[in-house]
Amino acid sequence: MGEGGSNTHSVFETGEGAGRHESLSPSPARAARGHPLPQGEREGRKRLRVTDSFTGQTIETARRMLAIRLRARDVESADLDARLLTGAALGLDLTGMMSAAKRLLTDDESARLADFARRRIAGEPVARILGVREFWSLPLQLSADTLVPRPDTETIVEAALELLDNDRRRNGSLAIADLGTGSGAILLALLSELPGAFGVGTDINAAALRTAQLNARQLGLASRAGFVACNYTDALAGGWDLIVSNPPYIRSADIAGLSIEVRDHDPRRALDGGVDGLDAYRIIAPDAARLLAPGGLLLVEVGHDQSGEVARLMADAGLTLPGSPRTDLAGIRRVVIGQKSIRQDGI
Ligand SMILES: C[S@@+](CC[C@H](N)C(=O)[O-])C[C@H]1O[C@@H](n2cnc3c(N)ncnc32)[C@H](O)[C@@H]1O
Repeated sequence: MGEGGSNTHSVFETGEGAGRHESLSPSPARAARGHPLPQGEREGRKRLRVTDSFTGQTIETARRMLAIRLRARDVESADLDARLLTGAALGLDLTGMMSAAKRLLTDDESARLADFARRRIAGEPVARILGVREFWSLPLQLSADTLVPRPDTETIVEAALELLDNDRRRNGSLAIADLGTGSGAILLALLSELPGAFGVGTDINAAALRTAQLNARQLGLASRAGFVACNYTDALAGGWDLIVSNPPYIRSADIAGLSIEVRDHDPRRALDGGVDGLDAYRIIAPDAARLLAPGGLLLVEVGHDQSGEVARLMADAGLTLPGSPRTDLAGIRRVVIGQKSIRQDGI
């Protein structure tokens, strides 16, 4: 099936109208992974003829066919991806898809879904195909020049809000700089939570900033967000309460070994952190020490094995380390925090 294979195969799916023949064989994808269907699951299964074309299929069958094709390619989130792509091809949300489940796809819809299927099977992430990704519950537009924001990066937002929580500054005026802002994810998430804050996002890639600006406008945050194309802090004067950054931190030599989704679809400039992955931190740590207001905080995302070295770079730059690195949901030390010494009112 799909690219590089025959165009049709039969697998088993639950539910009414799933297919044309009764059979008790497990799906090829499942059998290949050594998971024959348990007896109970086999009952009531019907053979679904899976083809590359969705023409003449109902919405429900098309979604199932896509899920099967993705599963056969070992896409981990096959069911979710199939639901999202089918919904996007049809312009329907989950409720809309469920209520129209038995409707046949139009020719345009089948062609669109076939295109989405081809791209996903070739390794393009769903967020890139849809051109949008949710971050901190905010829908963010993407472009070829922006990284797809990752859930791990929400750790920076969480940590910053927590550090500001007990402080009057949380509701007061706060100046935030986001270095390497990409789609604007971190800055816009923070501005959405801090009504008195304003911020600037910088990026070396001016095209990425156009997307960040669009996101700021669509989220109603444009009056408090500015964007400037420059090398990290080059265009910034001092006095920041918060500097945040998720810079490129992959070692150059490791990029070839990344998954296709990342290596071939995220911009190289968003990934490549130089020989040891630490190039950006060597610039950001001393710049932040110079540009932060007294008591101001620097929060940076780091790779899974970089927290110690980044903490050392911060200490070398004269920042204090107000606590241990914050861990992400997988327990990885993901965010390193530095603070400029308090000479007047502190955070
Ligand atoms: C890992 S991405 C992070 C994007 C976004 N902040 C996020 O978390 O989704 C790193 C970003 O840094 C930008 N970048 C790379 N080198 C830079 C530099 N020298 N100065 C400013 N930005 C840079 C890239 O263009 C990219 O948008």
